[in-house]
Amino acid sequence: MLDNPPEEATSPRRVLVCQYRTCRKDGAEPVLWVLQQQVVENVTVEACGCLGLCGSGPMVLILPDQVYYWRMNPQKVQKVIESHLLANQPIATMMHPRLHPQ
Ligand code: FES
Repeated sequence: MLDNPPEEATSPRRVLVCQYRTCRKDGAEPVLWVLQQQVVENVTVEACGCLGLCGSGPMVLILPDQVYYWRMNPQKVQKVIESHLLANQPIATMMHPRLHPQ
């Protein structure tokens, strides 16, 4: 028996970054750029239209996890990459509080 069983393979993820009006005005373009610069295995990054959370942006949605990160900026999204996408540790404090009440 293994002392440390192999970690579960991570399922493919999609990262959607709203690039519609309000999120763009709030800085969604550099957030998308940061995500596009880093290749993470099993993760695709896509620009998307309005996620229905205007004013909370820039919004980032991670699927199939159904995690909505709000008020993203390049520094915050870098943490999402390192913690959620690479280490499988979603960051509760950065999730939209209405959709992810704590
Ligand atoms: S413009 Fe981004 S959620 Fe509506």
